[in-house]
Amino acid sequence: MTQLQNPTPLAAPDQADKSLASLPKGGNSTADQVKVTAVTHWTDKLFSFQTDRPPSFRFQSGEFAMIGLADNDGKAITRAYSIASPHWDDHLEFYSIIVPDGPLTSRLRHIQIGDDIILRPKTTGTLNLARLRDGKRLYLLATGTGFAPFASLIRDPETYERFDEVILVHGCRTIAELGYSQKIVADSRAHPLIGEMVTAQLHYVPSVTRENFTQTGRITTLLADGKLASSLSLPPLDADFDRIMICGSIGLNQDIAAQLLAKNFQEGNLSSPGDYVIERAFVGDGI
Ligand code: FAD
Ligand code: A2P
Repeated sequence: MTQLQNPTPLAAPDQADKSLASLPKGGNSTADQVKVTAVTHWTDKLFSFQTDRPPSFRFQSGEFAMIGLADNDGKAITRAYSIASPHWDDHLEFYSIIVPDGPLTSRLRHIQIGDDIILRPKTTGTLNLARLRDGKRLYLLATGTGFAPFASLIRDPETYERFDEVILVHGCRTIAELGYSQKIVADSRAHPLIGEMVTAQLHYVPSVTRENFTQTGRITTLLADGKLASSLSLPPLDADFDRIMICGSIGLNQDIAAQLLAKNFQEGNLSSPGDYVIERAFVGDGI
């Protein structure tokens, strides 16, 4: 049964600056196995899955871990995956792309309940609340699978204790690609333990760029023309009050960072919390 517990902070301080480089890649000497307990396919390119959670596995909302599968020779193929479930849950959840011919996801796409997955014990990441100064509003800006770390953060009570309002923007090409975030937000609003704070404090803004929808346009455009804030009756972005987390393609991350720097927002880290933090949702140009 799912239980809310106090998070156990990781001991390592500013580890995310070393993030990917410090994580083990390949090899199976330290592999931990977890069992798949649920799988949902959202589109032909997107699926989510749950696994059981080893009692010793601890993480902070917004972090990622290395997960993977063994190839035909028994060698581990591991990749970085944001943990989409909240830290208090007794299972782990991940949200995955399917890359045609991708070394991991061309296999991972076929997982079924009862299969084993490799889960490395170490977690890290830049999208944590400790890197942000106090503020009034927290903007969570994601495209594609970049929503995954925010699926964790929007279910963490600390997010709502730190910020009066949380604005989650999820940008995708098509409406179908919003299916997972729509479900997570709806379930969070209805959750017996966190539902009240989510309903009162979370604004969810799904936007698509290649179909007609209630909200269309790239996140960068919605930010630049002020439509995002005005549509929610919020004041324009202001570094004195607003804090931002970004998770998307390299292009999206760079474009938003440029807008924020022009408004005097400062990037945060653990030794010097700031106004915004960024994580890549994947390495490369995307599919
Ligand atoms: P790879 O050889 O790893 O990738 C092939 C190419 O596919 C990449 O060069 C890129 O162009 C494209 N690609 C890879 N991942 C994505 C993606 N998510 N969206 C769009 N294009 C992509 N992936 C997830 O699906 N969910 C996550 O939660 C997630 N979290 C990540 C967190 C971090 C910090 C980083 C760096 C990456 C994350 N990724 C995530 C990407 C993931 O590590 C793998 O790249 C992805 O699972 C594909 O693996 P692959 O071996 O099949 O193909
Ligand atoms: P668009 O359809 O105009 O390319 P992808 O699936 O390619 O990762 O894109 C996910 C979403 O992110 C799409 O809506 C896409 O818009 C948008 N996007 C891609 N690159 C950028 C960028 N540099 N700035 C803002 N939005 C972007």
